[in-house]
Amino acid sequence: MKLVILGPPGAGKGTQADFIINKYNIPHISTGDILRENIKNNTELGQKAKAYMDKGLLVPDNVVVEIVQDRIVKDDCKNGFLLDGFPRTVSQAVSLDAELDKLGTKLDRVVNINVDKNILIDRAVGRRVCKTCGATYHIKYNPPKVEGICDKDQTPLIQRDDDVKETVETRIQVYFDQTAPLIDYYKAQGILLDVDGNQSIDKVFEDINKGLNN
Ligand code: AP5
Ligand code: ZN
Repeated sequence: MKLVILGPPGAGKGTQADFIINKYNIPHISTGDILRENIKNNTELGQKAKAYMDKGLLVPDNVVVEIVQDRIVKDDCKNGFLLDGFPRTVSQAVSLDAELDKLGTKLDRVVNINVDKNILIDRAVGRRVCKTCGATYHIKYNPPKVEGICDKDQTPLIQRDDDVKETVETRIQVYFDQTAPLIDYYKAQGILLDVDGNQSIDKVFEDINKGLNN
């Protein structure tokens, strides 16, 4: 199954991606995670991306397109993948379609998580992440067993640099300006699966599952 998960910042893409990749046994390709890993390792790519990400702006299309092109041809993607955070502009979507076409394949579905704007800020600002295993928590909606500590490996949780309120607001605006047009793009292809992301984490996954099995 070749899937894209789409939605504004804080919609729950990463959270649902974890469930989907386990259920369908496909790799999780998150451009945000790949870029953050490069920043952590201080690579040339990371240095280029950091300035954009800290401001809540998109990294240039050519940079992320290249990352994804290199990743989806790897062996573990033969039976499918879940793209999270990519594509984010119509130009990225067109490049992805062209690349998949070259490989003789296409996307099966695009899961679109809809969440009301006022909820998004609360979700992103309250998010805490584990640097060791990448697990995501929320101080109110998905707290760890011990406050501030990852359940899986006891690492102290941190807040992402771009999860401060002003930057989250910019990211949401960037989403509506540059990414939301993808909804119509994929609707026209007949592969969009709309899901109500205002519900609980479990209920959202239940709806995604139902939709993907239809
Ligand atoms: P990226 O890492 O992709 O961030 P994002 O799209 O802003 O998405 P988030 O990770 O913030 O949110 P999410 O939807 O995954 O939510 P989560 O599951 O964590 O991108 C970061 C930056 O990288 C961009 O700004 C850009 O600069 C750059 N970038 C990346 N890809 C790019 C591209 N293709 N092109 C150009 N630039 C690119 O959930 C959020 C919180 O809510 C968590 O705390 C979670 O526990 C909680 N939660 C989740 N679901 C629920 C629920 N149903 N109920 C209650 N709480 C919930
Ligand atoms: Zn952890």
